[in-house]
Amino acid sequence: METGKRIAIIGAGISGLLACKYALEKGFGPMVFEARSVIGGVWSQTLESTKLQTPKDFYQFSDFPWPPAVRHSFPDHKQVLEYLQAYAVHFNILPRIKFNTKVTCIDYVTSSTEDMLSWDLWGGTGQPFSPSGKWNIVTEKCDGNPSDSTQVYQVDFVIVCIGKHSDLPNIPDFPLNKGPQVFDGKVLHSMDYAAMDDDLAAELIKEKRVTVIGFQKSAVDLAAEVANTNGARHPCTLVFRTVHWTVPENLLQLVFRGLNRFTELMFHKPGEGFFHWLLAIFLSPLLWIFSTVIECYLKCIYPLKKYNMVPNHSFFKQISSCMFTILPANFYDRVKDGSLFLKKSQTFSFCKNGLMVEGESRPLLSDIVIFATGYRGDEKLKTIFKSTFFQKCIAESSVPFYRECIHPRIPQLAILGYADSPAILYSTEMRSKWITNFLSGNFKLPAISKMEEDVKEWEICKRNEVKERYRRSCVSPSLQIYCNDQLCKDMGCNSTRKNWFLAELFVAYGPKDYKSVS
Ligand SMILES: Cc1cc2nc3c(=O)[nH]c(=O)nc-3n(C[C@H](O)[C@H](O)[C@H](O)COP(=O)(O)OP(=O)(O)OC[C@H]3O[C@@H](n4cnc5c(N)ncnc54)[C@H](O)[C@@H]3O)c2cc1C
Ligand SMILES: NC(=O)c1ccc[n+]([C@@H]2O[C@H](COP(=O)([O-])OP(=O)(O)OC[C@H]3O[C@@H](n4cnc5c(N)ncnc54)[C@H](OP(=O)(O)O)[C@@H]3O)[C@@H](O)[C@H]2O)c1
Repeated sequence: METGKRIAIIGAGISGLLACKYALEKGFGPMVFEARSVIGGVWSQTLESTKLQTPKDFYQFSDFPWPPAVRHSFPDHKQVLEYLQAYAVHFNILPRIKFNTKVTCIDYVTSSTEDMLSWDLWGGTGQPFSPSGKWNIVTEKCDGNPSDSTQVYQVDFVIVCIGKHSDLPNIPDFPLNKGPQVFDGKVLHSMDYAAMDDDLAAELIKEKRVTVIGFQKSAVDLAAEVANTNGARHPCTLVFRTVHWTVPENLLQLVFRGLNRFTELMFHKPGEGFFHWLLAIFLSPLLWIFSTVIECYLKCIYPLKKYNMVPNHSFFKQISSCMFTILPANFYDRVKDGSLFLKKSQTFSFCKNGLMVEGESRPLLSDIVIFATGYRGDEKLKTIFKSTFFQKCIAESSVPFYRECIHPRIPQLAILGYADSPAILYSTEMRSKWITNFLSGNFKLPAISKMEEDVKEWEICKRNEVKERYRRSCVSPSLQIYCNDQLCKDMGCNSTRKNWFLAELFVAYGPKDYKSVS
């Protein structure tokens, strides 16, 4: 039985699928707008070598396990996409999706004359819906048919699921005449490379001098893929400004097994009482020991010292900043056999036949330069709003969102998929459950000032922990269970999900623990 309220979901990646599934479950009839012709978002266009880098037990829907045929802990991108498709079919999500339909902007329209800045409660009432406020969703067909026109839909609530790591590449700025325009070769972003057909991509790089920029997951995967294809006769060069800790699969599995309540006792929490503060101080040497042991292990299994690749920051800071990167298994073998060169350089610029990097007078000769420099997710989110007031809300707040999905000053709207986490599917599913519980009136939001206080406390807490590595999208990775406790409390369900005390303290929490929360 559908409620009369209209809900729009923008995007049919993991976040959009989850939002739609739980909205349907609560009796809403959401419309999902998807710019592409397929579901899955980032998983629909990846490098050939892309695999999940979260163990699959932590990257699964709470009520829809991976099929038994998928045995490996880190399924490949095709298996991930098949899993998402099976989920969408099973929960009858596909009929709700309008494919090839890009939302060009969203505009809040209200008949109320009250100034939004004077609101004490979210949207003026603290309720998810308002009799006077609606969102206009402006869409444009993008299936290449010139006769298609713009359409406007009016809805009561919007769930923005447009993805943080897609669509809008981050390309560095260069001084005049030092950027890609002076280079005779080809320049592209890892996103463009991933979007190519695998054979065409292999053909593009074959026997070319390829330079890859960056040292996070896209960069190391791409560099390894190029080095594997071209070998030592046409070596690939990786140019980067920061060395990061990267790990093998087995170590990451171990880290995930440690995501239990006992580990969370070692972290300071926003607004914690004296006892928890003291306990975290008392237990914090364990974190230092854990971090140091892992650093020693990584220095042992990888030739980090030999290639001057020991990061300046601790492993603990690396994972607390949501930067998890599994290194391709043969990465340092390729460095050793001369198929891959590593060049650290704080800055670089283009010249006619390649790149000028720090400390070298001759150019790094290149035919192709690939920026694996990430995405401008915040800019993408900001520009979907028509109102400059909401654009400013997104751009100027250095703080995360309330419960990582509600902006206290943007009414009748939630944002999913913008909070980084070691297992995004898991954390997004919890927030989808929370939002749809809110939409069906199971709880109310606190006053705007309380929400702003809460997000500020998270920011302060996180800044104290990771200092200069603070990013607003990464506030809760070390406190996943604590965050889920808050969501459960809001939804009125039991937050302790294990069946006995020792398991509660020492066994890792994962999606399956929250299966019965809906
Ligand atoms: C290659 C890659 C591998 C990853 N691996 C992992 C991993 O192992 N573990 C992990 O936790 N995270 C991983 N991530 C992070 C990943 O982003 C999330 O896990 C998750 O898939 C994001 O889903 P999403 O739905 O929020 O966003 P997306 O997957 O980006 O989906 C957004 C969707 O919205 C659509 N859209 C965007 N704008 C509009 C618009 N204006 N109108 C209509 N539709 C629009 C897009 O077309 C897209 O389909 C990975 C990311 C990448 C890029
Ligand atoms: N499962 C998978 O296999 C997989 C594959 C790809 C991506 N992903 C995920 O997708 C997300 C995006 O990953 P990503 O690797 O594309 O992007 P990213 O994590 O944002 O990394 C961007 C890289 O580019 C560098 N960079 C940014 N601006 C630069 C500049 N101006 N000059 C020089 N270097 C610059 C950064 O260096 P600094 O560190 O110095 O800032 C960093 O090394 C991550 O969550 C990642 O885990 C997963």
